[in-house]
Amino acid sequence: MASVPSLASTVQQRLAEGLSAALPEAGSADPLLRRSDRADFQANGILALAKRLKGNPRELATKVVEAIPANDVLGEIEVSGPGFLNITVTDAAIVRTLAARAADDRLGVPFNESAGTTVIDYAQPNVAKEMHVGHLRSAVIGAAMVEILEFTGEKVVRRHHIGDWGTQFGMLIQYLEEHPHELDHKDAEVTGEEAMSNLDRLYKAARRLFDADEEFKTRARRRVVDLQAGDPQTLATWQRFVDESKIYFFSVFEKLDMDIRDEDIVGESGYNDMLNETCRLLEESGVAVRSEGALCVFFDDIKGPDGNPTPLIVQKSDGGFGYAATDLSAIRDRVQNLKASTLLYVVDARQALHFRMVFETARRAGWLNEDVKAVQLAFGTVLGKDGKPFKTREGETVRLVDLLDEAIDRASAVVREKAQDLTEEEIAERGAQVGIGAVKYADLSTSAARDYKFDLDQMVSLNGDTSVYLQYAYARIQSILRKAGDAKPAAHPELALATSERALGLHLDAFGEVVAETAAEYAPHKLAAYLYQLASQYTTFYSECPVLKADTAEQVENRLFLCELTARTLHRGMALLGIRTPERL
Ligand code: ARG
Repeated sequence: MASVPSLASTVQQRLAEGLSAALPEAGSADPLLRRSDRADFQANGILALAKRLKGNPRELATKVVEAIPANDVLGEIEVSGPGFLNITVTDAAIVRTLAARAADDRLGVPFNESAGTTVIDYAQPNVAKEMHVGHLRSAVIGAAMVEILEFTGEKVVRRHHIGDWGTQFGMLIQYLEEHPHELDHKDAEVTGEEAMSNLDRLYKAARRLFDADEEFKTRARRRVVDLQAGDPQTLATWQRFVDESKIYFFSVFEKLDMDIRDEDIVGESGYNDMLNETCRLLEESGVAVRSEGALCVFFDDIKGPDGNPTPLIVQKSDGGFGYAATDLSAIRDRVQNLKASTLLYVVDARQALHFRMVFETARRAGWLNEDVKAVQLAFGTVLGKDGKPFKTREGETVRLVDLLDEAIDRASAVVREKAQDLTEEEIAERGAQVGIGAVKYADLSTSAARDYKFDLDQMVSLNGDTSVYLQYAYARIQSILRKAGDAKPAAHPELALATSERALGLHLDAFGEVVAETAAEYAPHKLAAYLYQLASQYTTFYSECPVLKADTAEQVENRLFLCELTARTLHRGMALLGIRTPERL
């Protein structure tokens, strides 16, 4: 596993050498390199430097160019405009770098030197409740961040903070105690659908009784107390709800082609034993104060609509604990026991105020500090085609499973229409991979903070910025590689490259930098955008440069080499997003 410096970083290095040779007084000035349309790269750093040194920028630029030692990476350097450098790298340098990438399993992508431990809180549905489209985003974005961070060398601990605790369980448990067979199964093998319909039926019945029957209400309230006190029978009944819900969650995660592990599910209940101590520590340190019986944390800059400060309530006046006490306890656990250096929360933007207050409280308490940061990767709302929050025609929230099934149906139709040599079984398998890929990609390709429209027509379209487009690009490359027969991909740095070959090559070379940026900024959409550009560059290359019918055997090999590296980069990049790339479509 050898990491490969990108051409951009090599050019940067050469320029920096030239700079300090020509202008030792400049210290370590940044040449400010970026990709450019005019040449391969442009460096703008000399302008600022000239200002600082009170020199003529064009003269300085010329001096720098002359001072760059002879090398076989930089082809042409031209001083242009007020003192920019336009830099073209040699064709040979492009092919050589790509060959080094191809020789590495990781495509030469370096590890992050300052990697630490990130605890990532994502995919957190609620027990005994249907998963809806809001739970999709947390799961999809979180799973992508897990892959991306792990690929850069970060140690990642996954935490699924499921909603498995709270007053509503009193009602559910009491009802099940009184109707003990309501969760029984007909068969040994319980499907996710069946589990959910059991829970749904039970929830509705319990709610009906709770609203109609005062005595049941009293018994239900007593159950909450029993649950919090750890009464064994109450806990056993509660466990049945959790287990039944997990059957359902796992079926949805499986449909999402997502690997969720039981040991990573640590729901709200998992922090129950810490709640008292969390409150005690906050109160003793003065971070939280009693106000009308409740334990509260106040903030200067957080006020409600009436202008009065809105506190974070850690413990209610009746002694009950809420969402905040649990999250604060989870922070202590993640920092002190799991040794996290970063806490990442993939949670709806509508919970931003909650997390701001929780993080600030944890900072005041010393649980978060310079060595441990907490970040909410906040995501926007999923909207319907009409631009309003996504609802069914009856105005109900949309069940996630229904959406996924519909996506798979639509995708299967697309696959079937294009299928040439696929069996029915293959169509079904590809349909699922394309459909789920489409849903994930649509979510990941817009920046998380923004709302987006759930539009299946657009998502499974073969043209435009969709996963299907990327999957077809990948499958097309595989088909070329299969047709190549005896011709094998091989890099030939001695060959001159066509314009579209250079463009594709330079883009392939940037993969590592894009992955690093995506990881550092928690921005999967940057990787998605990169992959889309890659597929587009490939399409241009493919239409301009015959591969198997190229002029010489070397050229055939070199183009096959570009094809193969493109395929591997697409495959790796899509895998980082949690999306499959079928070999045939
Ligand atoms: N279960 C919550 C919901 O459905 C999300 C939990 C987010 N994570 C956390 N640590 N608060 O909205």
